[in-house]
Amino acid sequence: MFSDLHKMPPPYRIKVVEPIPFLSAEERRRALAEAGYNPFNLRADQITIDLLSDSGTGATSAAQEAAAALGDESYAGARSWFRFHDEVGDLTGYRHILPVHQGRAGERILFTSLLKPGQICVSNTHFDTTHANVELAGAHALDLPCPEAADLDSTEPFKGNIDLDALERLLAGPEGHRVGLVLMTITNNGLGAQPVSMANLAATRELCRRHRVPFFLDAARFAENAWLVSQREPAYRDWTPRQIATRAFELADGCVVSLKKDGLSAIGGFIGLRDDDLRAMCEANLIATEGFSTYGGLAGHDLERLAQGLREVVDPAYLQSRAESTAGLARMINEAGVDTVQPPGVHALYLNAGRLLPHLSPHEFPGHSLVCQLYLDGGIRCAELGSLYLGTMDDQHRLVTPAPFELVRLAIPRRVYTDAHLEYVASVLAHIAKEPGRVRGHRIVSSPKLLRHFKVRLEPTPARAVRR
Ligand code: F0G
Repeated sequence: MFSDLHKMPPPYRIKVVEPIPFLSAEERRRALAEAGYNPFNLRADQITIDLLSDSGTGATSAAQEAAAALGDESYAGARSWFRFHDEVGDLTGYRHILPVHQGRAGERILFTSLLKPGQICVSNTHFDTTHANVELAGAHALDLPCPEAADLDSTEPFKGNIDLDALERLLAGPEGHRVGLVLMTITNNGLGAQPVSMANLAATRELCRRHRVPFFLDAARFAENAWLVSQREPAYRDWTPRQIATRAFELADGCVVSLKKDGLSAIGGFIGLRDDDLRAMCEANLIATEGFSTYGGLAGHDLERLAQGLREVVDPAYLQSRAESTAGLARMINEAGVDTVQPPGVHALYLNAGRLLPHLSPHEFPGHSLVCQLYLDGGIRCAELGSLYLGTMDDQHRLVTPAPFELVRLAIPRRVYTDAHLEYVASVLAHIAKEPGRVRGHRIVSSPKLLRHFKVRLEPTPARAVRR
């Protein structure tokens, strides 16, 4: 590794840049009001630092753009397809690779081919689209996170693990025959970007073998999980991130992968499979709904960027620098008095808004209120993971069951922001933490029934005296 004495700098320098806007406080206030206090409705040119998602938002390399110029756009059997296919095949070891335009297309194709109505899909935590696609296939999505995940402050190294005891009880119990799939999300995006250990993956595979249930990975952040394994799981200390990733894929019967994250590209994904019959079913669905099996909704130039991106993403220097940068941001934020889910992961930090804003009850959406304040004070866009997103509401959009935690996710795009940008984010949070009582709550004005958080409109509740 680089050196224990230094922080690892990014192993690249910046060749092409894009200006970012700085609006006045009044312009931000107006923009947020016009957006119905929902950051999904903001325009990108109203945002200074965009931490809404790490998906499709990374910077590409010169080598990726050079490869893209060689993109072969033949309808079938393009050169670019074979380059992508060989790269993914080498990394994952799967016999069958089906390209898709993004992760959720792969989820839809896999789940409608593999799951039968009434079956259960078990996960450490389903991502929201994954959950939706399981339910759209007529099955039931069940999360069994490990008990350590419930303590946001504990520094247990693998809080992304599945609860093996609960999984075994389910598989051996009366409902065991209904389990149609076990899907492990690496890293666990729904639960604080926490990694899954190789030991947990291996034990899950054994349980699935014994009970003849397919075991798949949702491997959107396979490289970042591998990095955290190399740092936190002693048996893998001498393995490269690429070796660890390959071993993780080997442990599973297949995978579904969004390549908008660790593919270091704006678009892309794939399904990896060993089973011939399942491949035939998925392929028919792919051709009917995504595109022919050698492009799956992607252009040749996308396949080229992805093939190159998959090489770059497992570079230990890149992963070390990215992980240290995220950990550095966590440190600055914690020192400013804002707690984050511990220990810090790689792709995102999760702020404990419930603890920062005790004057707001879950009914006033403290997570969402912090999201709005970050925009008002600093032009920073991020997303709530709390009662607005996960709570249940009555017909008048009043909160009935709050979420277990009121969190805010700061997702960090790959190779886009420097530590100076992250210092700015920390300083805006420090400003809010000095006087948290001025953060106003919010109530819902209108809301769609499905996928609420994308289209909901809100308004601030009246300011009132602060209880401390
Ligand atoms: N699985 C996980 C774990 C994800 O985080 C995502 C997307 C998907 C599947 C779906 O992939 O977007 O390519 O269709 N996560 C993004 C996020 C949107 O912001 O966390 P996709």
